Parts: sequence; C-alpha cells; structure tokens
Amino acid sequence: MKISVIGLGFVGLSLASVLSAKGYNVQGIDVDKEKCANISQGRSPFFEPDLEKNLKKGLKNNLEISDDFLLIKDSDLIFVTVGTPQDTTGAIDLSMIKKAVRLIGKIISKSKKNPIILIKSTVTPGTMQKTILPILEKESKKKAGKDFGLISNPEFLQETTAIKDTKFPHVVVIGGNKTRFLEKMKKFFTKIHPNVPIIVTNHQTAEMIKYANNSFLATKISFINQLSNICQNIPGANIDDIAQTIGLDPRIGKLFLNAGPGYGGSCLPKDMKALINFADKIGIKPTLLDAVEKTNRKQLENVIQQISKSLGNLKNKRITVLGTAFKPNTDDIRDSIAIELIKKLLKEKAMITVYDPKAMKNTEKIFQNKIIYSKTTVDALKNSQCAVIMVNWKEFEKLNASMINKMNKKFIVDCRRVLVNKELDIEYYAIGIGK
Ligand code: UGA
Repeated sequence: MKISVIGLGFVGLSLASVLSAKGYNVQGIDVDKEKCANISQGRSPFFEPDLEKNLKKGLKNNLEISDDFLLIKDSDLIFVTVGTPQDTTGAIDLSMIKKAVRLIGKIISKSKKNPIILIKSTVTPGTMQKTILPILEKESKKKAGKDFGLISNPEFLQETTAIKDTKFPHVVVIGGNKTRFLEKMKKFFTKIHPNVPIIVTNHQTAEMIKYANNSFLATKISFINQLSNICQNIPGANIDDIAQTIGLDPRIGKLFLNAGPGYGGSCLPKDMKALINFADKIGIKPTLLDAVEKTNRKQLENVIQQISKSLGNLKNKRITVLGTAFKPNTDDIRDSIAIELIKKLLKEKAMITVYDPKAMKNTEKIFQNKIIYSKTTVDALKNSQCAVIMVNWKEFEKLNASMINKMNKKFIVDCRRVLVNKELDIEYYAIGIGK
C-alpha cells in the first residue's frame, strides 16, 4: 500500500513519520523545498518530543520526502494535512487546501488506481461537499464514491504529544458517503488502532465534531479563567484546589482546567473565530462562544492591569517575560499569549527582556532588536522591575530567593502559579489566588 501525506506541519509530519516507522511505504509532500531538505536529513523543522526518532526510523524504512506532487500518482491513500488559517475577518482561509486538492485532482485524473483522499485539515461544515468534492471531480474528471474515495478524517492531536496522540488516538472519526471506500478506511484504522473507537458519520458531522472538540476545550479554559478572576477577590481562595476538586466529578473531568493568561496556539483561537464566523453566516448568534472569546481576551488585560497597578506608567520600566511559547515543551509561538503581552507592553514603551527554554529563536524572528534576549532565567531577572511568568515550563519552578534578589524590584506576576507554594519575601500576584 502506498500512502501520501500532503503538508508537513505538526499533523502531517507526525503522521508520515509514524506510518513509515511502522513499515508503510509513505511519501511526505510539502511545497517548501528547504523544509523538505531538512526533513529528508532527519531534522524536524520544529521541536516536538519523539518526532525525530520516528522520522529517522521512517527514513530508514520507506519514507520519501519531496516537494514534487507527482509522487502521489500511484498512491492508495492520500492524506491532506495542509493548514487552514484565518483570514482578516476571522473566517477560514481555504486557499491552501483548494490549491492542494486542485493538484491532487489533476494528478489522479491520470491514475489507474482508485485512491482514497482523506482530509485531515480542519474545515468548516459543508466545505467537503460544497468546495472540495466539486474541485476534485472537476480536475480529475472522475466521480467521488465511484472512481475515488473522499473522507473527512479530523485530527485531535496536541502539540508536545503529537507522536503519542498519532500512535494512540482516543478516537478516529471518518466521515463521508456510505461507500466501499468508507468501509475500507474503517478496516484500515481498526487494524492500526485496535481498541480505539472508530466513529463513522457523514462529512458535515465529522467537520462539526472537530469544531465542537476545540470550542469545548476553549470553553473549559475560559470558564476556569473567569472563576480564577472571582477567586482573586476572595482572600485565601485557590483556583487549583477548586479545579482539582470539580475535576474529580466524572461529568466534568480534570483536564483543561488550568487557569492562566488565556488560551493561545495555532488552533483554539483560530477555530473559535472560524466557528463564530460560520455560525453568524448561517444565522445563529453564538452568544456563549462569543463570551468564551471575550473572556480569553480579557484575561491578558487583567495581567497588564496588575503590572500597571504596581509599576504605574510602564514607560522605560524593565519587565521580564518568562516563557514565550504558547505552552510548555514546544518552541511554537504562533498566537502565543506571551507574544501578545510583549507587543502590548512595547506599545506602552516598556523595556522587555525575555527567556524561554526552547522558543528564543522564533521569538527573535518577531521582535529582532526591539527586546533583550537572555540565556537563562536568572539573567533575564537582572535589574528587572517586574517578572511575568507566562508559561509553566518546569524549570521556572526552580526560581528562588537568590535569583529574585537580582531584580531591581522584587515583583512577580505568576500567571501559572509556579511559585505559589514558596515562601518568598516579594510582591507576588498569582492568577486565581485570592489576596
Ligand atoms: C489543540 C487541541 O487541544 C487539540 O486536540 C487539537 O487537535 C489541536 O488544538 C488542533 O486543532 O490542531 P494545541 O494547539 O496543541 O491543541 O494546544 P492545547 O494543548 O490545546 O493548548 C491550547 C492553549 O490552551 C495553550 O495556550 C495552553 O496554554 C492553554 N491551556 C490549555 C490553558 O490555559 N489551560 C489548560 O488547562 C489547557
């Protein structure tokens, strides 16, 4: 069986690496030549635990990486994993996926096989039937369901656990018309993921499941963040004890109740906006989703207010931002709340020093010489008037009194309650802890 994966981001590269490491014959295709050259050498373009190990194993087997789309010609399965970012209005931007399926259509027009095309990219409900299917049929001059299969196959992996999630997903969703291709894919996934629930449904439901998943996660985060604000005005209240306890109720569940400066990353913010935009377009006012988004934006304003309350006017104040990645264990800064914070503080003319264990290079690409880059946490604290802990990197837990003594003003805003259990003689403000 020959498998192609188009688009080598977190989803595509993890999938191509895992399938080829398992022994499948895989072609990984991406338009970015330089990226392909690096991946071919076993180097991942981003930091993701265990990815390179699987990639190298795959390359030793039958993994081929290329920017040449023609390689997909004789594929049995074609996974599409290209990005679907947001446009300036917050709506989904389908240009990359349209381009990819146009090419696929052209190439399969000449194929003697009956390939199955699986769309893993997140697309708003109706996109498969109204956009992707017509493009494929027009370009290939073939019929979906007869000459080739078309299946919605949304992805639920999280960055930082991408490999584990690819190998052991909690669910597999396959959506499409009831054809032999759908049956074939059910068998394929049952074979590689025995004991994992396989949900077979139609396209629009599969498309909606993905948005339901991400918007529910975002809702959980905004919920706990809102409660954390209430807790801050209840002397002695502790949001983590509350989250831990309600999490024990199986109807609630303990995950995604970690209060912080708001959700970021390349998925939750974009998918929330796309779903809100989509709901509006089909005549539904998404009041709850709007509130989730608004609560998320407000969370960062609260952090800035807290800084200003203590420092007054921020002009020329030295502020240290600890953690710039969108979450720990990644170098990804896309839609990171810490990056947003730095942009806002720079507007107030504050002087910013940053440190992140993995994301410095990416941070530098954005801010260049506008901010100062430190090599260690303690360096970043020197002469600072305020340190903001944005990301719960493990190493920030080692922060201690002697490191803090290097600060000009011993003032810490702890958005992740990393230091909450330490006895420190400092001005300390933690999200979700009542003063
Ligand atoms: C998210 C989803 O979790 C995945 O299931 C989904 O497949 C993926 O988007 C996607 O659509 O591609 P990811 O972007 O890797 O995965 O990030 P998350 O781990 O969900 O974290 C998102 C943001 O929420 C981060 O900024 C994180 O710090 C924040 N967060 C998360 C909290 O503030 N509190 C929590 O309890 C959990």
